[in-house]
Amino acid sequence: MSTPIDPVSPIGIFDSGVGGLTVLRALRRALPAEEFLYLGDTARVPYGNKSPELITRYSFENTLFLLDRNVKIVVVACNTATADALDRLQRHFSRPILGVIEPGARLAAERTRNGRIGVIGTVGTVASGAYETAIQRFRPGAEVYAQACPLLVPLVEEGWLEHSATRLIIAEYLDPLLSRGIDVLLLGCTHYPLLHELIAAHAGPNVEVIDSAGAMAGVVVERLAAIECARQQGTGGVQFFLSDRHPHFKRLGERFLGDSIEKIELVNY
Ligand code: DGL
Repeated sequence: MSTPIDPVSPIGIFDSGVGGLTVLRALRRALPAEEFLYLGDTARVPYGNKSPELITRYSFENTLFLLDRNVKIVVVACNTATADALDRLQRHFSRPILGVIEPGARLAAERTRNGRIGVIGTVGTVASGAYETAIQRFRPGAEVYAQACPLLVPLVEEGWLEHSATRLIIAEYLDPLLSRGIDVLLLGCTHYPLLHELIAAHAGPNVEVIDSAGAMAGVVVERLAAIECARQQGTGGVQFFLSDRHPHFKRLGERFLGDSIEKIELVNY
């Protein structure tokens, strides 16, 4: 029998590193009274080029870390972890576990007018076909063109958010999708919202560039309301846990999050 969920408990969220803070930012906006535990698996980042079996193991370990701290719900902010492990996590644990792919896919399916959708993500996310499957559920017959962009995560981690090299690489990755006549481009990776402006500038005015962070927050709000576990009062806050030191976490994180990061705890699990 599962134990009752205490509405005062925090919300757990994990990512392979700093990128999930874009999701945390949307969650904090939507749920200002909530307490969050953010786990960045910086010891094992990147996830995007690793096997589904390894990512599933990491995802179980991350989830257990958060559940041990009595979180009421787990948000898998990482697209690769969602693609590779969400189903198994949901089957294994009784606490609600939510991932970023379905909210993003639904949004893309709603926004497209011509039914041609581009998706960019890591090698692992694209290889899984998870976005195609989810988009087809919301818009049967949609043409989905997915492109792996493995160089974008390191560029973001390096903080090259306006660099000319980043512009060149974006053009290289996006042009094959643009030539298909897509009218929506879904950023299927935690890190890409940081390159939103550069990507949108290259995609041009006929392509709407969207990410799943806002849609994800909406799903978390709905789920907490459905299980009557939303925190009604309080000022909220975040505790940050990292599995290793990260040279840019504070600086980049503050940019991703739009807020200051005072304290980071290094953890071994
Ligand atoms: N968090 C990953 C994702 O959204 C990107 C970074 C990584 O490869 O670990 O797919």
